[in-house]
Amino acid sequence: MNQTNYETEHLTNSALVTCQLSYSEWSQFFPEKNYEINFESVRKQVDENTFAIFIINPHNPNGNVYSEAHLKQIALLARDLGIMVVSDKVFRWAVFGSNPFVPMAKFSSIVPVMTIGSISKGWTVPGWRTGWVVLHDLDGVFKCTKMLLTAAKQFLEINFKPPTVIQAAIPTILKDTPKEFFHRRQMFLKDKADLAYSKLSDIPSFKCLKHAPSYRYYILTTFSYISQTQLKISSFVDIKDDEDFCEKLATEENLVLLPGIAFALRGWARHSVDMHTQTLEDAFERLKSFCDRHSDR
Ligand SMILES: Cc1ncc(COP(=O)(O)O)c(C=O)c1O
Repeated sequence: MNQTNYETEHLTNSALVTCQLSYSEWSQFFPEKNYEINFESVRKQVDENTFAIFIINPHNPNGNVYSEAHLKQIALLARDLGIMVVSDKVFRWAVFGSNPFVPMAKFSSIVPVMTIGSISKGWTVPGWRTGWVVLHDLDGVFKCTKMLLTAAKQFLEINFKPPTVIQAAIPTILKDTPKEFFHRRQMFLKDKADLAYSKLSDIPSFKCLKHAPSYRYYILTTFSYISQTQLKISSFVDIKDDEDFCEKLATEENLVLLPGIAFALRGWARHSVDMHTQTLEDAFERLKSFCDRHSDR
């Protein structure tokens, strides 16, 4: 990439990051194509204030892992639009199956890439709130402007800081964790995802989102009454929507699902599956008995 052709004024005049691909923009994805990005829709939304295409890969909550070819297309699109790519790869250590994780930074010769990582998911320490930001800037675009680094430093001034003990442990954690650790963890998640699919298929009120096994930390389901093929009101007698469902479930069964509305997905729910088999079995029993109790069958 020729730096002089690159529109660096985007970097100096904008806010830190303008997220063009947010949870609320589901129309920008193709669910039937493993949630690939609809590039035409992205082009329409970019204006002079747009700073970056922000991707979450692997994605929370839909669970896709983008192919190398699609990531390259994203890089080319960003270059064409004169903006950078920010890539959240926090879930990259939870990937299993035949669709390998490819780092967006692989395409930093096409466009500047900022990568966001964290140890929370890969090492199962969500409370540690410890992560990092890496700039892959082969052409030195960021050197032309101090804005990005200044804004990042200002943000750190006001945000939480992880305990220093954990910060000190990070180099060892990153360098010395054996490969088998991740392999075991991925197999654990795959096993729990399979279990969850089979349990959920036994509960008629849920329709499970199926796609090729790749990575699962969460499972998204949609209540069948909301699915496009069944417009009749649900089999539930006294539940209005996903929020109502989750609230009653928590009250009656002490079981917490995240309502889809948290991701602008009305009528969906997100199940976390990263726990031991016995706990999951218990959770699905409670879920089933809740659904039975509230349905009119
Ligand atoms: C996609 C994504 N990125 C980043 C984070 C934040 O990670 P951390 O737990 O390290 O704060 C989360 C948390 O769930 C997430 O889902």
